[in-house]
Amino acid sequence: MLSYKRWIGAFLVLVLILTCFACGNIGMHQDETEENSDLIVVGFSQPGAESAWRVALTDSVKEAFTEEKGYKLIYKDGQSKQDNQIRDIRKFIQQGVDYIILCPIVETGWDTVLSEAKQAGIPVIICDRNVVVSNESLYTAFVGSDFKAEGEKAIARMEELYPESIEGEGPEVNILHIQGTLGSSAQLGRSHALEKALEEHTNWHILAQDCGEFTKAKSREIMKRFLEEVNIRDVDVIYCENDEEAFGAMAALNEAGLGYGKDTNLRIISFDATESALEFCMSGQIDLVVECNPLQGPYLYNIIEMLNDDKTVPKITYVDENYFTSENLSSEIIQRRKY
Ligand code: AHR
Repeated sequence: MLSYKRWIGAFLVLVLILTCFACGNIGMHQDETEENSDLIVVGFSQPGAESAWRVALTDSVKEAFTEEKGYKLIYKDGQSKQDNQIRDIRKFIQQGVDYIILCPIVETGWDTVLSEAKQAGIPVIICDRNVVVSNESLYTAFVGSDFKAEGEKAIARMEELYPESIEGEGPEVNILHIQGTLGSSAQLGRSHALEKALEEHTNWHILAQDCGEFTKAKSREIMKRFLEEVNIRDVDVIYCENDEEAFGAMAALNEAGLGYGKDTNLRIISFDATESALEFCMSGQIDLVVECNPLQGPYLYNIIEMLNDDKTVPKITYVDENYFTSENLSSEIIQRRKY
């Protein structure tokens, strides 16, 4: 038989256990409430983190969709593989997100997964690079860069640098071309502008071309190989399809003890206009940086807010973009740079 005191003790232990259970249940209930809260859920699929530019884009989107503003952002990094991005979008659909933001690694191959999102009634906003699909109703809107226009800015600069060579006459202009990820809008638009210029200016030539995958490491390797294949004295322009590739090319030239930029005949052209590239541009090592604006979060936020209010959104929104040479750059511009 238990004594009276032991009965009291056992009773208190029971009360304690029940209290713990109750607390646990309350905790679970609170978590569920959080899951079911009024936050608008946005799934955000990025192709990877290959450049400082892309990290700036990720940060811009994260800053735009915060809980304080009523959003829950689910960010997924595709590790540079389209299959991973497709898998991430399918997961967003299963989770029943309210919106999907997709930065597609390449333009094609999205029809099936975008049809699945459409069937599930989830609006998809394409961001940064574009998609080519059988039916444009598969996505709601595009926000990003006009890559052809970016390429045309680079060509306009080259025409300015070599005015006597643009009629198919005059001295030859020899180019090394380091391309971005093949099949991405950024590569296609920037390469297209150069290819078109080569058709128009028959004395412009590409001496060597390869894909640097928008990374410094790959482009450094490529540039090292180019230096074995071509006589660098014959080269006028290294056309790099982003800043990381320009940094890779510069690293290879530095290692080989070769000069470039101001006071030489070898000019580097780049795209993005990150703070580091602008510094190289101001000091004359890079001739031109065409801006590719990664601060797209506020644009996406406006589109989604309009959709929340059942407003019609523009199908295409191009972000504002400029270009820089040592002539229009200043330290103030570089200091104000957010990426
Ligand atoms: O799609 C935009 C391009 O992708 C940027 O030029 C590059 O830096 C990024 O990786």
